[in-house]
Amino acid sequence: MPIAIYRKYRPATFNDLLGQEIIVRILKEAAKRDKLSHAYLFAGPRGTGKTTTARLIAKIANCETRMKDAIFRKKGEPCNECKTCKEIDEGRSLDTIEIDGASNRGIDEIRNLKEGIRVGPNIGRYKVFIIDEAHMLTKDAWNALLKTLEEPPEYIVIILATTEVDRVPSTISSRTQQFFFERVTVKRIIEKLTKIIKNEKIEISPDALDLIATSAEGSFRDAESLLDQLISFGKGEISLEDVEKTIGKVGFGKLSEFAELLLKKNLDKSLVALSHIENGGYNLPQFTKDLLQYLRRVAVLKYAPSMAELMTKELSEDHLKILLAHSKLFTDAHTGLIQSLITAYGQMRYSQFPIIPLETAIIEQLKIV
Ligand SMILES: Nc1ncnc2c1ncn2[C@@H]1O[C@H](COP(=O)(O)OP(=O)(O)O)[C@@H](O)[C@H]1O
Ligand SMILES: [Mg+2]
Ligand SMILES: [Zn+2]
Repeated sequence: MPIAIYRKYRPATFNDLLGQEIIVRILKEAAKRDKLSHAYLFAGPRGTGKTTTARLIAKIANCETRMKDAIFRKKGEPCNECKTCKEIDEGRSLDTIEIDGASNRGIDEIRNLKEGIRVGPNIGRYKVFIIDEAHMLTKDAWNALLKTLEEPPEYIVIILATTEVDRVPSTISSRTQQFFFERVTVKRIIEKLTKIIKNEKIEISPDALDLIATSAEGSFRDAESLLDQLISFGKGEISLEDVEKTIGKVGFGKLSEFAELLLKKNLDKSLVALSHIENGGYNLPQFTKDLLQYLRRVAVLKYAPSMAELMTKELSEDHLKILLAHSKLFTDAHTGLIQSLITAYGQMRYSQFPIIPLETAIIEQLKIV
């Protein structure tokens, strides 16, 4: 079994961590000056680098090269060569303890945590606790942590990572250094995937790459896992159709052609196109959802063109151009279409014939009375 892409390409240095510039700058500076905080809180959507950064800090804390070599230390990076760095990569460092907040909720686990904090590091200078899904911790666990955070022993570094920062008690979060990880842009995801593809010697069409990147919704991990799955088909070549079939979603091209028919009120051609999509084996509720998202973007761009700037995060430049062109076709009447599609979406998810609510909605809105 080859090693998963997302593990193979996990950034080994702060320099490789993409799209989190402010966080990288602050942490690198702390590493250069050898001034780690005792507690961090990493918040943000999945697949944006929280666990990766936590492991980088764990390496910084105990990297042997950094301890020996004052000039190297000034780089603010781990060496990735020493025994400790390697052990952390392999998940077997005794001084780096990773805890999954979702599955460690019992009394025994909390007792172990307290005990672990009390005992101190085995070999390194620091003992690092990485607590993932921290929002899932129980009250008892928070209480145990709170005591530690109030008077942290010199050797402790606690890193809490969560996708739901609102659920972390403020007594805890106020005692941590907080970092907010941002959803990553499509452009960045494409850049990283392009490097991986080159390295893995895989051929992929640009529209296939684009669909992988946009469907990942700002998560490097989702994009990399999907790529992994596609590579495992073993063709050495990935087409748009491969991606579409794997995720059950149509690419931007098909979506935008269909939306254009609706915007131009071309009823007969839209019905024909819809039946092609159904026959193609695509998931119609998913298609409707994507279509709604598309039309929503078109509508927003029509009434608030400055939103284009924000959308550059989620879309490539070429696609944004097409959306802008489509926004010129959008009229007040089309808001009714959006409403009907929302209703159809609600009906079709439970329908034996999901195409019917969709067709009906389109006919109702596009027919000329
Ligand atoms: N900022 C990033 N730069 C480059 N790759 C990233 C970044 N964030 C995540 N990844 C990729 O996604 C994978 C999962 O990231 P991880 O740090 O576990 O995300 P999470 O925020 O969910 O903890 C990594 O192994 C890496 O390949
Ligand atoms: Mg994580
Ligand atoms: Zn090292």
